[in-house]
Amino acid sequence: MNVRKYSKKDVEAINNLGGFLHEKYNLSLNEFSRCLVLEDGVKLVGFVVYDIIYERAEIIDVIIDPLYRKKGYGTKIIKEVIKDIKKSLCKNITLEVNCKNKSAINLYKNVGFKIEALRKCYYNDEDAYLMKLDLR
Ligand SMILES: CC(C)(COP(=O)(O)OP(=O)(O)OC[C@H]1O[C@@H](n2cnc3c(N)ncnc32)[C@H](O)[C@@H]1OP(=O)(O)O)[C@@H](O)C(=O)NCCC(=O)NCCS
Repeated sequence: MNVRKYSKKDVEAINNLGGFLHEKYNLSLNEFSRCLVLEDGVKLVGFVVYDIIYERAEIIDVIIDPLYRKKGYGTKIIKEVIKDIKKSLCKNITLEVNCKNKSAINLYKNVGFKIEALRKCYYNDEDAYLMKLDLR
């Protein structure tokens, strides 16, 4: 299992996998965005989109193919994201996660994120936690 930077040829596979996050997922990256992918041989089985905007870093999307979950791959790719962000000037990393998404909350806690605040009705009528990892 290999983690690497995304390339343009990954976009179709990313958008297909992103369909598990929301309907008609469309990878959209700007000058601040980065994307790492996880691949099993030639099959793309996970990706993370994150932004590094000057001193701010934010994880935007994380997904592992359902067939590959609970094997440590989510943790593996998030650790690579943290390693990459640590090379920047960012003091912390933040993200929002649905309060009901126990597996994602556990993953983030396992790599050191802490719940910082509750965002009421962040996803329409569903609440989210703001989670933060201090880097320095
Ligand atoms: C959240 C998500 C990325 C986690 O990915 P994952 O690859 O399953 O994550 P990991 O395998 O690293 O960890 C998940 C659990 O499996 C456990 N695990 C890891 N390796 C394992 C193994 N070999 N055997 C059994 N369990 C294992 C971990 O301990 C962890 O358990 P915990 O939840 O009790 O702490 C994945 O569930 C997903 O894609 N969900 C849908 C999209 C989503 O919700 N994204 C987050 C939006 S903010």
